[in-house]
Amino acid sequence: HEADAFRTDLMTITRFVLNEQSKYPESRGDFTILLSNIVLGCKFVCSAVNKAGLAKLIGLAGDTNIQASFFLFLFIYFLTFFLSCGEEQKKLDVLSNDVFIKALVSSGRTSVLVSEEDEEATFVESSKRGKYCVVFDPLDGSSNIDCGVSIGTIFGIYTMEHSDEPTTKDVLKPGNEMVAAGYCMYGSSCMLVLSTGTGVHGFTLDPSLGEFILTHPDIKIPKKGNIYSVNEGNAQNWDGPTTKYVERCKYPKDGSPAKSLRYVGSMVADVHRTLLYGGIFLYPADKKSPNGKLRVLYEVFPMAFLMEQAGGQAFTGKKRALDLVPKKIHERSPIFLGSYDDVEEIKALYAAEE
Ligand code: AHG
Ligand code: MN
Ligand code: MN
Ligand code: MN
Repeated sequence: HEADAFRTDLMTITRFVLNEQSKYPESRGDFTILLSNIVLGCKFVCSAVNKAGLAKLIGLAGDTNIQASFFLFLFIYFLTFFLSCGEEQKKLDVLSNDVFIKALVSSGRTSVLVSEEDEEATFVESSKRGKYCVVFDPLDGSSNIDCGVSIGTIFGIYTMEHSDEPTTKDVLKPGNEMVAAGYCMYGSSCMLVLSTGTGVHGFTLDPSLGEFILTHPDIKIPKKGNIYSVNEGNAQNWDGPTTKYVERCKYPKDGSPAKSLRYVGSMVADVHRTLLYGGIFLYPADKKSPNGKLRVLYEVFPMAFLMEQAGGQAFTGKKRALDLVPKKIHERSPIFLGSYDDVEEIKALYAAEE
């Protein structure tokens, strides 16, 4: 059918969220406004990430001709030197953070912001305050920037429960109190995956429209998977249950085939694949980092929220991840998340330890 070549009824992320919010009569579009500012941040980072590789080529060689003066060469020499020092990577981290902070403050819908990039929380000035608090990792997977491998942004949203001065207490709440969570992956395509507590929905950026279009409605993670994802270089420092679990992935006892190993090193990419294909993602505790590496508020919670909404599980080695109550904004926790049955297995191994 010729008519099928183009979809004409485009479900943009804004339209989708407006539809969802219309179920709540008290909602006055605040959440939609907040989300559109997060989306703006994601679009900016996406475009910056896509240009990052190009900037080096065009920025340095594009306008140079053979008659370029000695000083221009000197300038280019030093610029190249600074860029190759990893400055580029730092810049993209900081740039992304600045964009998100400014977009969120100017939305007029936030009171407290916690970013992986900032030691302290940001408290929005009273004239611009709103009823939401946002915790986020503006650029996750930063070690992958320079080689063009997938990176992402992760975010979680809480509501303010009072109108007094905002404090960090307003975000030091268990993950199960989040009202929404999501991530954006800057990969072979730019995808935003979101949950407002009614399932998980995936949107793909159509670069020609500049709009995120619903492409993956109601994502459910397979009940069991055949992929495990972990930094196995840390194996010598793992605890008993983690060691046993990974051993079983490779040498299953019940005669089932061994699992495949996939590890990008960007949490967003590793969790995204786990969500779509099934399996398990682990960042366990080890002797060197007894709390693991990943941060509770803006890495563990949003991903645990999405996993549960998709029918999977998220476990810390001690309890359900969303039941953690963080005491500090940059607190860390071990995390095991993914397909329901696979997480059930690691839970059993930890239970047997006690
Ligand atoms: P960030 O780039 O925001 O600091 O986070 C990196 C995290 C996460 O993306 C990933 O899962 C993990 O670091 C990988 O850690 P290892 O290099 O220790 O495997
Ligand atoms: Mn991160
Ligand atoms: Mn980061
Ligand atoms: Mn970092």
